Formats: sequence, structure tokens, C-alpha cells
Amino acid sequence: MKVEDVKVVAQVGAGRMGSGIAEVVARAGFKVVLMDISVEALKFSIGLIRGSMGRLVAKGRLTERDVEEAISRVKTTTSLKEAAEEADIVIEAIPEEMELKKRLFKDLDALCPERTVFASNTSSLMITDLASATNRPDRFIGLHFFNPVPIMRGVEVVRGALTSKETVELAVEFCKRLGKVPIVVNDGPGFFTSRWFAAWAGEAFRLFEAGIAGIKEIDQMAKLCFNMPMGPFELHDMAGIDVQLHVMEYLYKETGDPRYAPPLILKKLVKAGYYGDRKYNPKSKGGFYDYFGIPKE
Ligand SMILES: NC(=O)c1ccc[n+]([C@@H]2O[C@H](COP(=O)([O-])OP(=O)(O)OC[C@H]3O[C@@H](n4cnc5c(N)ncnc54)[C@H](O)[C@@H]3O)[C@@H](O)[C@H]2O)c1
Repeated sequence: MKVEDVKVVAQVGAGRMGSGIAEVVARAGFKVVLMDISVEALKFSIGLIRGSMGRLVAKGRLTERDVEEAISRVKTTTSLKEAAEEADIVIEAIPEEMELKKRLFKDLDALCPERTVFASNTSSLMITDLASATNRPDRFIGLHFFNPVPIMRGVEVVRGALTSKETVELAVEFCKRLGKVPIVVNDGPGFFTSRWFAAWAGEAFRLFEAGIAGIKEIDQMAKLCFNMPMGPFELHDMAGIDVQLHVMEYLYKETGDPRYAPPLILKKLVKAGYYGDRKYNPKSKGGFYDYFGIPKE
């Protein structure tokens, strides 16, 4: 399949990432079927998409008409069958759990047309392993978008052991149509970005635990001393403390490398229901700043 043949994209999982992906795909002119098991998540997602595009209208980068046209291309559903049956590409962004994702892909494999290409937005799970749940490992690829999707330009395109050349070419052209810059890498736990990022963030968590610097001070140093747009704690409050815990658990299990051993602070907050800022996850009690009672700037 060529990118010109792609008309309908099924976005499965309408959380932080699924909402952002659905937005950029709809804005690029594709029809989107946005599927989630939760009606509340779908409603929240449409609110996130409207809010995100509203900010672009305020900046003069989109018109109200663009927003309405993009929204009109997004259909929501809780039926996997409905999402699957017309999809040219399926993009999965459900929680970072191997068995959950494999079960979903097995079901999708039975429901989708032969031509449908499967993409996972997993942050760390091996694409080759996910693809083994289907009969189409050649039409299976990693499309690792970054948070917030409408803003971050890079997409890590992950080639599984059996991903075909055609599928890689389609994924690259599809990302370009979304206005993104695709960067192709080979499969492995955490690929490049999550492996490198977990080592960096893990060190910040451990230095906090060792009492070297506080949360606010670490975030300040990232911004003021290294010119990063956000510090590691702010970033996890946005991206999901639970997401990073899942990533580090998997990386540690697969590599045995102590750099990826999940720090206690991550486990403690997730067990206490602090998954990150409530602005991005209504099921969360809050993030690092809320738990430690640190005023946000
Ligand atoms: N948060 C990030 O910064 C980030 C960045 C890159 C990649 N990712 C990856 O993207 C994926 C999703 O992360 P997120 O932060 O959007 O998670 P999230 O928890 O915000 O959203 C997950 C959504 O999936 C839905 N869901 C659960 N099971 C489902 C099923 N069987 N079918 C359909 N929907 C289902 C949930 O109701 C929820 O709305 C994960 O694999 C994560 O590792 C996350």
C-alpha cells in the first residue's frame, strides 16, 4: 500500500497519546476512527483535541473552520470491529503492557482487512514480539510519537525483525504527511529514545532520592543550566509517571542493566495513584509536584 491509498486510520486508545495522534492525523486530512474501551476517555479525548487546536487558533496557526473540519473527520467508538473494518492503518496507543497489547493485536488481526498495516506507539516493547501475536509481521511497525504529539516533530519509526521494506516506506511517507520527521531505527527493548531517556531520567530520580537536589531544583537546573524546555519531574508529570515505570520495568527485565532498575520513588507514587498531572490524566491523583506539595510556576 502507498500513502495515497490511505484513507482511514483507526486510532485505538484515546488517552494522552491517542488524542494527540488522532488530532494530527485528522488535521492531515485522513478520516480517523478513534476507539477506546471507555466512553469517558473518548469524551475527554475530544476535549483535549479541541483544546489543543484552540491554542493553535489563538496563535493564528489554524482557523475555526480548520478545527471544525478536522473534528468532523474524527468518529468515536467503543467497538473494535467498527474501528477495524475500514482501517488502512491501525495505530495502537493503549497502556504499556505486553499481554494487553498482544491480545488487542490478535483481535485486530482477525477483524481488519488483509491490507491493513498495524502500528504500535509503544515506548519500549519490542515490535517483533508484538507482531508475533498476528499473522502479518511484515505489515507491522513501531510508530513512536512523542508527547505532546501536535508539537513534537520527530517520530521514531521502529523496524521489527520481519517488517517489510514497503511497510517502512509507507510509515515514513505517512509521518511526512503528518508534518513529522520520521527517523528509522531497528528493534530492541526501548529502541533508541526510551532506552537513552530512561537512563537519563532514572539518574535524576536517583539523585533526588540520594538527597543531592530537590525536585524543583533539578527541574530548574535542566532548564537554566542545560536550556531544556522542561525538567525531568515536570516532564513526567505531563507524560505519565506510570508510563515511565512500565518502561523501566520492561527495560530492566529485558536487559538486566541496573541503570534501568525502576527507582523507588516511581513505584511509590504509582502505587499511591499519582500517575501525573490531572490535566492529562483524570484518573490520577496528581504528579510529583502535587504529591510533594511543591507550588507549580
Ligand atoms: N505518555 C507518553 O508520554 C508516551 C509517549 C510515547 C509513547 N507512549 C506510549 O503510548 C501508549 C499509550 O500511552 P498514554 O500515555 O496515551 O496512556 P493513557 O493511559 O493516557 O491512555 C491509554 C488509553 O487506552 C485505553 N485502553 C485501555 N485498554 C484498551 C483496549 N483494550 N482497547 C482500547 N483502548 C484501551 C484506556 O481507556 C486509555 O484511554 C503506551 O504504550 C505508552 O508507552 C506514551
